[in-house]
Amino acid sequence: MCGIVGAVAQRNITPILIEGLRRLEYRGYDSAGVAVLADGNGIKRVRAVGKVIELENALANSPANGHLGIAHTRWATHGKPAEHNAHPHISGKLVVVHNGIIENHAPLRKRLIDLGYQFTSETDTEVVAHLIAHYFQQNHDLLEAFRTALGELHGAYALALIHEDQPQTLYCARMGSPLVIGEGSEEHYIASDPLALLQVTDRFRYLEEGDHARLSMTRCEIWDSRNNPVDRPVKRYEHAAHSLEKGEYRHYMLKEIFEQPQAISDTLSGTLGDDHVLTAVLGPEAETRLADIANIHIVACGTSYHAGLVARYWIEEQAGIPCCVEVASEYRYRTVVVPANTLLITISQSGETADTLAALRFAKDQGYLATLAICNVAGSSLVREADWRLLTHAGPEIGVASTKAFTTQLVALLWLTTALAQVRNRDSAVIQRNVQALKTLPQVIQQSLELAPRITSLAERFANKHHALFLGRGTHYPIAMEGALKLKEISYIHAEAYAAGELKHGPLALVDEDMPVVSVAPSDSLLEKLKSNLEEVRARGGQLITFACETIEQGEPDANHEVITLPWVEDCISPIVYTIPLQLLSYHVALVKGTDVDKPRNLAKSVTVE
Ligand code: G6P
Repeated sequence: MCGIVGAVAQRNITPILIEGLRRLEYRGYDSAGVAVLADGNGIKRVRAVGKVIELENALANSPANGHLGIAHTRWATHGKPAEHNAHPHISGKLVVVHNGIIENHAPLRKRLIDLGYQFTSETDTEVVAHLIAHYFQQNHDLLEAFRTALGELHGAYALALIHEDQPQTLYCARMGSPLVIGEGSEEHYIASDPLALLQVTDRFRYLEEGDHARLSMTRCEIWDSRNNPVDRPVKRYEHAAHSLEKGEYRHYMLKEIFEQPQAISDTLSGTLGDDHVLTAVLGPEAETRLADIANIHIVACGTSYHAGLVARYWIEEQAGIPCCVEVASEYRYRTVVVPANTLLITISQSGETADTLAALRFAKDQGYLATLAICNVAGSSLVREADWRLLTHAGPEIGVASTKAFTTQLVALLWLTTALAQVRNRDSAVIQRNVQALKTLPQVIQQSLELAPRITSLAERFANKHHALFLGRGTHYPIAMEGALKLKEISYIHAEAYAAGELKHGPLALVDEDMPVVSVAPSDSLLEKLKSNLEEVRARGGQLITFACETIEQGEPDANHEVITLPWVEDCISPIVYTIPLQLLSYHVALVKGTDVDKPRNLAKSVTVE
């Protein structure tokens, strides 16, 4: 998704803008650009298709230095990836960058063309530049012109604006797309994500929906959507800058896979008593209302949706509460029947995913008991807008393919299930078992990471494959789905997941020696049934790869059946543990395939438009 960086400072801000763009690369983009008010030379704009390095090369040929500037990484929505569509966009002396979608860009464009404005791109953003310029020409007050234009925009945006005649002023606004203000010493910055600015500050003001701001080196003025001045407090960013570096690892994804023991331990920190969970973690209001919850709806996207699917098994079995799970892009556009006392849970790593956020907003009018956000980013829109919150503490996740965010979401959801079981006085043995299992989890995950060398050799088997099937049952069915998603995301191998019981209803027809079948087969009550399903695959010459429990007899080794064993673990944490080898498998297959592991083609880390 698009990323914005801006600065007004005593020092030359171009290197800071470029470093900011590099730090936003993980969001996914296809072109980049920068506009700087070059000392004494007016606005200088440089744009390039491709990676930020291309922009740097362009800047090396045509340097731009100054104290005020805005920069952007673009992910094409309106108009193909091309230099003329890359941001910033200019109207006269005024320059704009934008993240999001202006839904009414077509009528606005027509009106502006009728007024004589000439367009040089196909983007919705250029409309914004000309619209502000139009009002500025009328009233000669840039703040007023900015406000008037904002009032006419429908859709989602984070916007930044500079003007050649105001060399010390940076304007910005947010509605539906994230934007933060970074506080320096006699300097101000803006960015779509604090990560972009950690090289210059760790102090941020988080703009609320509808806010707009005017920044100079020394002043930060913010107004809400009604133009009332507001104070958005400065918050210190909690993650150290070094957590953003790859360190000894070849890829962020690998680093993040290996960070899971720590991420899980951080997520559980302060949440568990001796034999119970500390429900106060949810805050006083949520704690008192937990016992009232009679139904649960879970809404999320991508990997976070898979976490929700696992939780449904846990919540219905252990807490006895009916639970539905749905992808946010479907949920937000349908008629939803909400039974009395239903809790809506949204799950998101970033807390900025457009569909998940829209689902939360839609849910506000549907008569839910409350909304709860399970999220990895404390200052995100989702966390700020939900009634209750449960934070995961995975730390920044840079790799597009989600790993540690997923396992920490599962940890939070198992914790929540236990909390619900506890307030409903369910079987205390189950509660104690969950608590003990969660306590051992970081160490168990550490052990499963030791499978890495074994999986490295296994990955070669996928080198010439175009398809793969993943099978699981019960809580491990969504884990098979997540395994298939990981493989397709980063190795571009077409992968499908099926509940193993569905094999005979279609996918068995695909099985032959060219179709690897990966099964997740822990020692649980469904193991015998799963084994029968796997026999059906073997009988048809399928190449089986099974992740199984070391305590189970595996039979004679077989060239067509590779078994990788994991330590025995309690059923409740088993889906979390079996996720690890599937992450490692997709990572090593991607290495064999030579793909861009951390930034797979066409995908974005943070999908902030629908
Ligand atoms: C994108 C990412 C996925 C992520 C999904 C939901 O598709 O590439 O890794 O699972 O968005 O993101 P969220 O931040 O809401 O968990």
